[in-house]
Amino acid sequence: MKERNKITICMGSSCFARGNRANLELLESFLETNDLRQAIDLTGSRCEQCCPRGPNIRIGETSYHGVDEGSLLDLLEALAAGPEEV
Ligand code: FES
Repeated sequence: MKERNKITICMGSSCFARGNRANLELLESFLETNDLRQAIDLTGSRCEQCCPRGPNIRIGETSYHGVDEGSLLDLLEALAAGPEEV
């Protein structure tokens, strides 16, 4: 895993209502369970300017759209496995 990976979760009303509320809980739980709090810089944004494609989450410079809990878990597991995986 990179020294400090950045995850930005869109907390705008559209993304939040359509799934990022649950995704945020999953994210926080995953980071806690896997002792990744120090390795991941988790921040929120107000809007990623692509609401229709939400819920949106950015990992590093890559944006992911239509993220549900299943796809988020896949992304997090790949991220935890190593930088080549995401
Ligand atoms: S509210 Fe998430 S992209 Fe606009």
